[in-house]
Amino acid sequence: MTKPFDIGVEALRQGLPDKNRRDADGAKAPDDRVRAMSELPSASLRARKLRSPEAAAKSFYLETFGCQMNDHDSEKVSGVLLGRGYRAVETPADADLVLYNTCSIREKAAQKVFARLGDWKTTSQGKIIGVLGCVAQQEGEEIFERAPWVSLVCGSASYRRLPDLIAELETGGRRVTGLDLDTDETFETEITRRDNPFRAYLTIIEGCDYSCAYCVVPHTRGPERSRRSDSVLSEVRRLADAGYTEIQLLGQTVNSYRDPSPRGMHFVDLLEAVAAVAGIRRVRFTTSHPNDFTREIVRAIDATPALCDHIHLPVQSGSTPILRAMRRTYTREEYLEKVSWIRAARRPISLTTDVIVGFPGESEADFDETLSLLDAIQCDGVFSFKYSPRPNTLAREMPDAISEEEKGRRLAVLQEHQRQIQIARNQTLVGTEFEVLVDARHAARDQWAGRSTSNRTVNFTSRHQSLLGEYVQTRVTRAGPNSLVGEHVV
Ligand code: 5AD
Ligand code: SF4
Repeated sequence: MTKPFDIGVEALRQGLPDKNRRDADGAKAPDDRVRAMSELPSASLRARKLRSPEAAAKSFYLETFGCQMNDHDSEKVSGVLLGRGYRAVETPADADLVLYNTCSIREKAAQKVFARLGDWKTTSQGKIIGVLGCVAQQEGEEIFERAPWVSLVCGSASYRRLPDLIAELETGGRRVTGLDLDTDETFETEITRRDNPFRAYLTIIEGCDYSCAYCVVPHTRGPERSRRSDSVLSEVRRLADAGYTEIQLLGQTVNSYRDPSPRGMHFVDLLEAVAAVAGIRRVRFTTSHPNDFTREIVRAIDATPALCDHIHLPVQSGSTPILRAMRRTYTREEYLEKVSWIRAARRPISLTTDVIVGFPGESEADFDETLSLLDAIQCDGVFSFKYSPRPNTLAREMPDAISEEEKGRRLAVLQEHQRQIQIARNQTLVGTEFEVLVDARHAARDQWAGRSTSNRTVNFTSRHQSLLGEYVQTRVTRAGPNSLVGEHVV
């Protein structure tokens, strides 16, 4: 990575688009985090466009669907292209190379990609159209059959081959593929085009070695590979030099991290080392797997202020028989025990989770167990989904499917249930103070918005004119289920 394509502190001062926010609607707007979370979780259909630097010969347009891992992969893919002399453009019509970084975690996400590809059926002449990410890996060369105008298909486990694949296309290659999964390398780039000026994402572990019965990820992202700790730490130091103060470590099972270098760091060692880098004030990490969630993680958060007091710990179901059918490797009781460690911490730690409703065989009693688990764990946010059968997964063949109608009903019940929990929890925060990193301005509402270390959104008023990128003390004056309203404490 070199600095020219990183957005550093200078950009923080210039007023930035409000595109990274998901739930800063303020308490006045209908609170939508519970609803939004069913649509916008770690794997959802948000399309983002990357902005262009100066003109160059060839141009590209990259649209991203899905999770933060995909967002960050796109930042790296953009870095590869920028390094090859491409420039980013705002619209696909203006681009020589049109890329879709795709998501296939649920069926709707995958369908959306084919709808996008359909747009090029008669208009792709002169352009290279490419499919990256999970749909590329899942569908492979069949994409060429369904959409013969596509010339590049590459899954994330093969991204380190991207420069070669692009070179092949540039020299007249008609169809190129990168679909190998048998790699122990991670995707590292010289240049990363960073799209978020406040928070730098950094993948420390790719792929997944679990085999949850509903999940395509092991098939689409391949086996687990951790990145060397020296490589992670030198990137963190470069990010700190570029002005970033907040780092988010990424991985499908981030806490399974195991340093492949002779240093042999464990996840907690790496967390502490990242938090110790000069200039880094906040370290987040997502997503944690309950199986690898240890007391040491809680102790580290307690001992190290720079480690954010927020843990995303997907439970998926509150019923042990359903967890077993899902192959989740823990029981309801074991999950509750891990939450009890979090609740026993000296500083309050915010907890969020993921839930799937309507997994095959989920009875009304199983569903009730999930609701009662939500009562017990008192989360600050739940990303909830209707089970969606996926190719190459065990659950696809399981009997006792739940009807779409019933899944929809359970989802609505669960979301309303959790909404009430969040209303009650957030109400207790009125009058308390949070330090937030300011990352948006809502001119129409005359409000600023920022995130606390616990990842709460505070929309607040201030007499100050230029707060983007600043750490600001706020006091909560009102609370909704998804966000807080407050004022700048001066
Ligand atoms: N159907 C519904 N939700 C799913 N998730 C993963 N696979 C599926 C599926 N087939 C959810 C899980 C996971 C989140 C990223 O997406 O809750 O934690
Ligand atoms: Fe999918 Fe399970 Fe791996 Fe998470 S741990 S990515 S849900 S297989």
